[in-house]
Amino acid sequence: MITRAALTGWGVCVPEARLTNADFERLVETSDEWIVERTGIRERRVAGEGETTATLGIAAGAAALKQAGIRPHDVDLLVLATTTPEQPIPQTSAFVQEGLGLRCGAFDISVGCAGFVYGLITGSMFLVGGGLERVLVVGAETLSRILDYTDRQTCVLFGDAAGAVVLSAVRGEDPPGLLAWDLGCDGSASDLIQMRGGGSRLPTSAATVAAGEHCVKMDGAEVFRRAVRSAVASGSATLERAGVKPEQVDLFVPHQANVRIIRAAAQRLGLDPERVAVNVDRYGNTSAASVPLALAEAADAGRLKGGDLVLLTAIGAGMAWASALLRWGE
Ligand SMILES: CC(C)(COP(=O)(O)OP(=O)(O)OC[C@H]1O[C@@H](n2cnc3c(N)ncnc32)[C@H](O)[C@@H]1OP(=O)(O)O)[C@@H](O)C(=O)NCCC(=O)NCCS
Repeated sequence: MITRAALTGWGVCVPEARLTNADFERLVETSDEWIVERTGIRERRVAGEGETTATLGIAAGAAALKQAGIRPHDVDLLVLATTTPEQPIPQTSAFVQEGLGLRCGAFDISVGCAGFVYGLITGSMFLVGGGLERVLVVGAETLSRILDYTDRQTCVLFGDAAGAVVLSAVRGEDPPGLLAWDLGCDGSASDLIQMRGGGSRLPTSAATVAAGEHCVKMDGAEVFRRAVRSAVASGSATLERAGVKPEQVDLFVPHQANVRIIRAAAQRLGLDPERVAVNVDRYGNTSAASVPLALAEAADAGRLKGGDLVLLTAIGAGMAWASALLRWGE
């Protein structure tokens, strides 16, 4: 008898308001044609007044609990991944815990766009080795709050959203759940995606605000190359650990940063396009929310059945990456 962490519920929350490529044509020197061709993005959601990382996370978490058929007091741990916390102190998970009425341990994971997959793997460890029964993992972001809407190289790429999953301890001879995983980080590349202001190195001051240091900056071309390389290396390592061949993977759910990164990674991993979840066209890059958002969409569309093998990969700031192979439950 072994124990695995299986996904038993999922939920999402996206703001109503949309920013289309046509809207960006009015903001910066760009075109719908350039954005679609270079990124695959057509529109993204933007948090409105009163919407924050925590409110989106709470709504996604509530949807996941409802779908899993459990109540707040059934949750033993909350793991919340975000790059855009509610505020510097306290951690966003405290707001989400309170909003959902959970009475359990709660902590944040800050691993950029890889945060949700890092969180899913971390949460699973508490189920498999820590004796917990249910963990709620949330990825929630309001990237629109840290974008420089005069910088065309970054502002067109990102969007706001939240996604959440319930992980449950499942026991049996060969139960569904997390089969294999891979985590990594190359801190020597930490300057490739940065928001420099507001921390210990560069505390907030009038000068940091004036210099735009509270917005995200990125070396897009180098991030692109590394994103493809890491997704392939990490995804392959995960499949190898599980003894699974690429052709056995039923659905590949990569971090949704750029459709060209997704296609290149899928091709090099040996996965055909029909088995890849893509929604970057409608949401842009939602960082830690992107994988649960794409996974939930695929599940709701009936693309997953019991026994299916699902490969998740994500890479982002750090540069950190994470992959997970799941067997879907009935
Ligand atoms: C950002 C990204 C879309 C740029 O695409 P690219 O094909 O690499 O384009 P380049 O950066 O080489 O830029 C090509 C030209 O387009 C211009 N350009 C950049 N953004 C533009 C925009 N929104 N509209 C029009 N032109 C733009 C550049 O200034 C450059 O012009 P130049 O040749 O005159 O200098 C791409 O590099 C990317 O997606 N990188 C990964 C980003 C990412 O996913 N980050 C998060 C990871 S978690």
